[in-house]
Amino acid sequence: MIELRGVHKSFGPLQVLRGLDLFVDEGRSFAVMGPSGSGKSVLLKHVIGLLRPDSGRVLVAGNSVPDLGRDELRELRREMGYLFQFGALINWLTVFENIALPLRETTDLPEDEIAGRVRRVLRQVHLEGAEDRYPSQISGGMQKRVGLARALVTEPRVILYDEPEAGLDPGMSQSVSELMRELQGEFGITSLIVTHSQLCARIAADRLGIFDQGVILVEGTPAEVLASDHPRVREFLGSRRE
Ligand SMILES: Nc1ncnc2c1ncn2[C@@H]1O[C@H](COP(=O)(O)OP(=O)(O)OP(=O)(O)O)[C@@H](O)[C@H]1O
Ligand SMILES: [Mg+2]
Repeated sequence: MIELRGVHKSFGPLQVLRGLDLFVDEGRSFAVMGPSGSGKSVLLKHVIGLLRPDSGRVLVAGNSVPDLGRDELRELRREMGYLFQFGALINWLTVFENIALPLRETTDLPEDEIAGRVRRVLRQVHLEGAEDRYPSQISGGMQKRVGLARALVTEPRVILYDEPEAGLDPGMSQSVSELMRELQGEFGITSLIVTHSQLCARIAADRLGIFDQGVILVEGTPAEVLASDHPRVREFLGSRRE
């Protein structure tokens, strides 16, 4: 469903992706952990077509993302939800309007259909009744759920999560991770998850890859990888508390 092959990406002299290979089967979830500033968000942006590789292939559902025209990319983005690293809710729009935004951008659905879909995803993320509030009037955990609802509202086949647990306490982080797992299980949504949380990877992912120096260094089930004795992996995981 998602396939990156030999992807290279540099910004000037900075080599961020260096021949990255990554594969996520349809309906499965893959988590990526790696040091801050190493290029995980850059990786996700290639999948959604916000960045183009210098070389290599980026395929989603059989489409070569860098080769898509504007309309085809718009079409594909309707199939992909993106949970941004920094929430990216729009402060002057209500929860309802924030969630409705991707529908307004990528479809011509009538207003009553939009309202129906927004209410449905609000139920899925257990936020019934919050639709008229503004982002500043709800907690960080609720904001995360609104971000998730916004990623879900187009009924995507793929969701990309950029640090879904960031800024949440451990309990809330666990419940968001469980919700991600539920969405994958119930709707067969293919998920690519960038996370700094071992707990999130264990709960929400089938596979885990450690991203380091532009490639996936070690890959396996979360249990395998978290127990790996690869020195770079131990160094990275050893420095993280949880
Ligand atoms: N559009 C861009 N132009 C120039 N440099 C960029 C651009 N986007 C990212 N970078 C650089 O690429 C590197 C990787 O950034 P990225 O945001 O992917 O890190 P990350 O692994 O997501 O880190 P974090 O865990 O802190 O979110 C950084 O050095 C960043 O400054
Ligand atoms: Mg990032």
